[in-house]
Amino acid sequence: MNKTDILLGLQWGDEGKGKLVDVLTPHYDIIARFQGGPNAGHTLEFEGTKHVLHTIPSGIFHEHVTNLVGNGVVIDPVIFAKEIVGLKEKNVDVAGRMVISRKAHIILPTHRLLDRASEASKGTSKIGSTLKGIGPCYMDKTGRNGMRVGDLLDQQFESKYQALKGKHLQLIQGFGIADVYTSEELAEMEAAFYAGVDVLRQLTIVDSEHYINRAMKDGKKILAEGAQGSLLDIDFGSYPFVTSSNTIAAGACTGLGIAPSRIGEVIGIFKAYCTRVGSGPFPTELDNAIGEQMRQTGREFGSTTGRARRCGWLDLPALRYACMINGVTQLIMMKADVLSDFDELQVCTHYLFNGEKIDYLPYDIAPEYVQPVYVTVPGWNCDLTQLQAESDFPTALSQYIAFIESALEIPITVVSVGPDRKQTIIRSDRALIPA
Ligand code: GDP
Ligand code: IMO
Ligand code: MG
Repeated sequence: MNKTDILLGLQWGDEGKGKLVDVLTPHYDIIARFQGGPNAGHTLEFEGTKHVLHTIPSGIFHEHVTNLVGNGVVIDPVIFAKEIVGLKEKNVDVAGRMVISRKAHIILPTHRLLDRASEASKGTSKIGSTLKGIGPCYMDKTGRNGMRVGDLLDQQFESKYQALKGKHLQLIQGFGIADVYTSEELAEMEAAFYAGVDVLRQLTIVDSEHYINRAMKDGKKILAEGAQGSLLDIDFGSYPFVTSSNTIAAGACTGLGIAPSRIGEVIGIFKAYCTRVGSGPFPTELDNAIGEQMRQTGREFGSTTGRARRCGWLDLPALRYACMINGVTQLIMMKADVLSDFDELQVCTHYLFNGEKIDYLPYDIAPEYVQPVYVTVPGWNCDLTQLQAESDFPTALSQYIAFIESALEIPITVVSVGPDRKQTIIRSDRALIPA
């Protein structure tokens, strides 16, 4: 019986998961999303074109591969249908390459309105949610009120929908916020929802836990694609400034129905620096010209919301924590090219916590508790985007990689030096793909 590999983000999301899943896909039979929903924006670039995926797994551009949307994912039929249309226009046969779990939960229009009301009620302490209805949908799931893909095929669909919608509208009133929505807007949202539901009903809906376990038994190779990042995990992220799902490796077990003993490699992906979008603590944030330079060079603007991403230096205590929680077996470093213009780089190796130097992530990483302690290392100060092999690496880049590997005690098997598929350098036989 084969094992399932997992690729997931180790920081606050947007590490480059979409790009790397696309690069790895030719070596797999199934690519499976296990959590999150359209709050994700996964970017792929090849043959001069950029593609952004939200709910559809990043293996969709490869003909021979099945893309599975697992039970742990929350699906907005409106966004899902839009994604399918967009891909069809690019001649991608989505329906023929994708299966969806009967147990995945559905985002209703009123989940999005609830997200809006909840954020508005929080004022300056808002989460900075993508407002896609993720939190309210997962709340209905754990509160045992939710609607699932299986319900779309049920005779009772309409009455279940109306009952849940009614409950949501009452909850929205309870927030006491004026003008959360207009009835015209809700009617428009619902029309799009019903159209999306019709699209969803036409797709291949499966009992995905059986599907995936059978596939492993048949010797198929499976890669689980994470969304968001470990520091946004509902249990281990910087709570409450997190998303509402388990983004870590354990989420692949519950989000797909795979036993822990059936997990193979855990591939942790990180940027050579850090970014965060939305609110919440960010110890190494650079709210200055250096951060702005990273943002411009790295084109750090959200793939889903277009918001500017906050930028800062690499944070090793946070990365070490994410590696521990996930049991990372190999690392992939992204966007090294973005740091090319700096003579010197800083890396956070420790925090000062209550006046004491620590190298782990404490309960609260707000600025009043932790201050980053940096070492300065030489920058490579040259363009990396044309590099073809590790033998071409400037010495300072090799040193940067060795420094991180020794701090985390995990090998970096792949280095990405640009957004295109081809700008990917394999460093090791363990990288799951040949150099
Ligand atoms: P994801 O959510 O983890 O899939 O990441 P996003 O797609 O939201 O954000 C990553 C961004 O960085 C996208 O715009 C990618 O095209 C881009 N990207 C990925 N890898 C690299 C890289 O190595 N260098 C540069 N310059 N850009 C990259
Ligand atoms: P990918 O998969 C970066 C952030 C939001 C907000 C918090 C909660 O592209 O890496 P939510 O909409 O889930 O209620 O928002 O989480 N967030 C992300 N940040 N990348 C993502 O996904 C994100 N998905 C959610 O900005 O701070
Ligand atoms: Mg993203």
